Amino acid sequence: MAFPTVRQRRLRNNQAIRNLVKENHVNVHDLIYPIFVTEGEAIKNEIPSMPGVFHFSLDQLETEIKEITELGLQSIILFGVPNKKDDVGTQAYDDQGIAQKATRLVKQINPNLLVMADTCLCQYTDHGHCGIVKKSDNGKEAVIENDSSLALLVKTAISQAKAGADVIAPSNMMDGFVTAIRSGLDESGFEHIPIMSYAVKYSSAFYGPFRDAAHSSPQFGDRKTYQMDPANAREGIREAECDVIEGADILMVKPGMAYMDIIHTLKQNFDLPIAAYNVSAEYSMIKAAAEKGWIDEKAVAMELLVGFKRAGADMIITYFAKDAAKWLRADSV
Ligand code: PBG
Repeated sequence: MAFPTVRQRRLRNNQAIRNLVKENHVNVHDLIYPIFVTEGEAIKNEIPSMPGVFHFSLDQLETEIKEITELGLQSIILFGVPNKKDDVGTQAYDDQGIAQKATRLVKQINPNLLVMADTCLCQYTDHGHCGIVKKSDNGKEAVIENDSSLALLVKTAISQAKAGADVIAPSNMMDGFVTAIRSGLDESGFEHIPIMSYAVKYSSAFYGPFRDAAHSSPQFGDRKTYQMDPANAREGIREAECDVIEGADILMVKPGMAYMDIIHTLKQNFDLPIAAYNVSAEYSMIKAAAEKGWIDEKAVAMELLVGFKRAGADMIITYFAKDAAKWLRADSV
């Protein structure tokens, strides 16, 4: 019998050698933690479909921000959940809007915490779409207007930057949003503020729990006329290419788990940093299965996060950020 001379297992003999040959690492600095802020007082309500994730009123933010900071996390992304909605999403670009107020407050609590602003209208519109809805004359059909929506998104981004946001993250999937927002920011003196574009954003059922959290489900129709078809990969390259030409600084792929191939492809094709959004249902599925005792939450979540890194993500937006920070800390001692 011939014995193998090449043995892959030699480099798996013990933890120390496995650590030496480890190709990818999840670092606490790679993680971006999403926070939902809401109007009202004394609110810290857990989102039923996202265990461990809360709605915070502004008066509850300080404790949370301090905890995040103490865990070593350096970046958050803010989602505003306003009380008042209308058909043009006025609260999205109001300087006194909930996201703007929260941004100012976070910057007061910890000026070094990097605040990303999600630039979209769907939480702020009564119809729940990411742009302006134009009804046909008979009122039966509706289109989401591209170019008129851009003007509102630009206003939103400028007011977010004015409030102190460090990164503008437009998630609306209107055509030309990077060009429009870039020139709006530049004209307003925010040429130094980067744009992290939700470049390749699919029309996905994995956003379900987020829409519960953000009260942002479309009230009619779906988002398929602006978000991408999950069946398409090459179109993702075109989406990303547009955003690169338009001046995006970071390219995001969303969702993450079912789209690792897209993360990989973008990393191979573009030299901008790549972000992965580990979206709400990816989080909730793991939480639910762990609650049932079917899986090991920490092991599965960390495997997923390192999977994003291996696929090519430089940074990961994840509801697991706080958990991961704790796990990473515990493992390093
Ligand atoms: C806003 C937005 C959405 C998410 C982030 N920004 C929802 C959507 O497009 O419907 C989803 C994030 C998640 O599921 O965690 N457009």
